[in-house]
Amino acid sequence: MSPGQSGALWGGRFGEGVDPGFQQFGASVGFDRRLADQDLRGSLAHVAMLVQQGILSGPEGELLRQGLEGIRADLEAGSLQWSVAQEDVHLNIETWLHQRIGPLAGKLHTARSRNDQVATDFRLFVKEAAGQLELDLLELQRTLLAQARLHLAAETLLPGYTHLQVAQPILLAHWLTAYLEMFARDRARLQDARARMDECPLGAAALAGTSWPIDRWATAKQLGFARPMANSLDAVASRDFALEFLAACAIGASTLSRLAEELILYASLEFGFVELPDRFSTGSSIMPQKKNPDGLELIRGKSGRIYGDLMALLAVVKGLPLAYNKDLQEDKEPVFDAFDTLHASYRLLSALLGVLAWRAEVTARAAGRGYATATDLADRLAQQGLPFREAHAVVGRLVALCLSRGCSFSDLSAADLEAVHPQLTEEMTGLLSPQASVASRRSLGGTAPEQVASALDAWESRLSVEGGV
Ligand code: ARG
Repeated sequence: MSPGQSGALWGGRFGEGVDPGFQQFGASVGFDRRLADQDLRGSLAHVAMLVQQGILSGPEGELLRQGLEGIRADLEAGSLQWSVAQEDVHLNIETWLHQRIGPLAGKLHTARSRNDQVATDFRLFVKEAAGQLELDLLELQRTLLAQARLHLAAETLLPGYTHLQVAQPILLAHWLTAYLEMFARDRARLQDARARMDECPLGAAALAGTSWPIDRWATAKQLGFARPMANSLDAVASRDFALEFLAACAIGASTLSRLAEELILYASLEFGFVELPDRFSTGSSIMPQKKNPDGLELIRGKSGRIYGDLMALLAVVKGLPLAYNKDLQEDKEPVFDAFDTLHASYRLLSALLGVLAWRAEVTARAAGRGYATATDLADRLAQQGLPFREAHAVVGRLVALCLSRGCSFSDLSAADLEAVHPQLTEEMTGLLSPQASVASRRSLGGTAPEQVASALDAWESRLSVEGGV
């Protein structure tokens, strides 16, 4: 190793050591050490390729390989100390390699730059993170499917809302299936992003490629990428793969946040639709009666920081000239944070959804309140030939009458009905149960039990086919 005056691996042309404050400021090892495994895999693939191409001899490659494997083992055993003086994960590992095998370590960086090295490590990490979140979502979908099956069999009702005002009765299974669909798209977005980022930057070197006779296909394949990236400048300068990942995380977090919000509302005393399990709730330090939905509130709240992570990286890359700029070192923390936050949120929600206790009698009662079947009555009048707009107005007058008396449709007498409109009969209002309303909504994708059942059957087979993804 010939670090020059500065003491750093790149120090040949420098006349003095680095300022300690600046060293601290510039170091990324505090967070990018998380890429150690990806970095070692990248180096091992690079060494194998250098040997294959005759750039290194077989014995040299073997010594480098053993050195790198030794570092991996020592890292796992916790016997190595990361050093800020070595700036980042890459230089820490290379320094350990020098300590371990001597000057031969200096050959590892042949035909490589930290620019293509970090881009490769980070792509590997993001690909794997996306794959993990896809698995989390699959788990969540399975939980929702199982819950939806149970509540379809029980025909558990729920008021459906628009503007958070009671709108029409639905099946709880229909509501659960809506989130199943949303989670499917959240998963597909991650899959799409993962497929697009499946290209290897290694071999782009600093920015222009290299004069060494390397084989970029060999390293790409060994690292599990579909192919090498086509352009060396693009390979080291682009972080749109991380942006896509963060965008997919942010949209996924918005789905979670909506679900968390609904459950928080439904668990309130005023709604009383669902009982949160004690083990996922907390108490108050002053109010002995309190049971707070902290887990759900945090899921809702943490979506904000995931949006922030996306914004942070968008702001970093905006206006950056090609190719590598040190600004890009700021790409990692938002990704780590978004991944950790979303992964933990998915896990918590899966566990919680599986053990929620829905109060079917409360939701059924609520589904019958608020004149939620008014549309059904208007539809009935319209079926008898009244234009729908007129039927709408008639039922509106009926609602006003009920409101003035504080009663429901079924409390009105035949004379009351006739006074509002001659075509209104007691038989019509008598049929207006929330169950009948739900059963009548048989249009494709509607809330009728047979529609929900066929949606669940479709999910059953889709989730079992995609199970291994
Ligand atoms: N720690 C750096 C990063 O994360 C590695 C690449 C450094 N490259 C350079 N030309 N200084 O971006």
